[in-house]
Amino acid sequence: MNPVLVVHGGAWNIPYDLTEKHRKGCKEAVLVGWEILINGGTALDAVEAAVKSMEDNPVFDAGKGSVLNMEGEIEMDALIMDGKTLSFGAVAAVKNIKHPVSLARLVMERSKHNFIVGEGALKFARKNGVEECKTGDLIVERERKRLFEIRKEGNRIESLFQSRKDTVGAIALDSSRNIAVATSTGGIPNKFPSRVGDTPLIGCGAYADNEIGAAAATGHGEDLMKVTLAKTAIYFLKKTKNPQKAAEKVINYLERRVNGHGGIIVLDMKGRIGVAYNTPRMAYGYKTVKEEKFFV
Ligand code: GLY
Repeated sequence: MNPVLVVHGGAWNIPYDLTEKHRKGCKEAVLVGWEILINGGTALDAVEAAVKSMEDNPVFDAGKGSVLNMEGEIEMDALIMDGKTLSFGAVAAVKNIKHPVSLARLVMERSKHNFIVGEGALKFARKNGVEECKTGDLIVERERKRLFEIRKEGNRIESLFQSRKDTVGAIALDSSRNIAVATSTGGIPNKFPSRVGDTPLIGCGAYADNEIGAAAATGHGEDLMKVTLAKTAIYFLKKTKNPQKAAEKVINYLERRVNGHGGIIVLDMKGRIGVAYNTPRMAYGYKTVKEEKFFV
């Protein structure tokens, strides 16, 4: 089986002057994950590495560069899922961790549970030797300014700025024909403390099943959750056997049913890719043995 890797860096109103940074960030993430896949590594390792690369890149709303909640804190959510076993690990509202996606993987592989949140997630991280960082290490000036503007201007600016939803995600198919997916986000700006969006919720932010394919979502979590976007994409994929149609159908459904906005990447077990979004822009890219392409 020839490997395939597809990533996204969020679907939202990405300002034109940031498009190149988003494209570059997607490319860097794809190349890190691809190196693993092309050397016979697993889909799980590839999606974790690709998402870590985007968590390290301050341009994205994940890890360093995450948006701030209404108290000026960073709380992050992440999910990883193995399509072979349907095992998954997730963390939510977690602070002071550089790579929430790796913590989610530890939850999957080293705990008896699937999903650990908040203080407990931090305790679990400590117990497993995960290095903590200071909130200040994750905050970037752009997000301090954004929160300041939201506080100053109130709801009018809030709605304007809340068009920023930069969740990152990756799907990989490896040479052993296993599929995996991972997502990570800082959520939405000025969110209530401990608010959790779609990103770490299985079936909402992502889903992977070796019998069908995988999907990773981005957009306004409150709406994406209502239609379990990723699992609905998998349902459409099973029905249509066409990843592009599945992606388009699920985004149409999101808009028609709950007036929701966002985007999705879909990959089937033949390595065929589907992408759809109903926001002004979406950052995404992919690599196969034949080609690599990046879009914003
Ligand atoms: N999709 C990211 C969030 O709403 O938290």
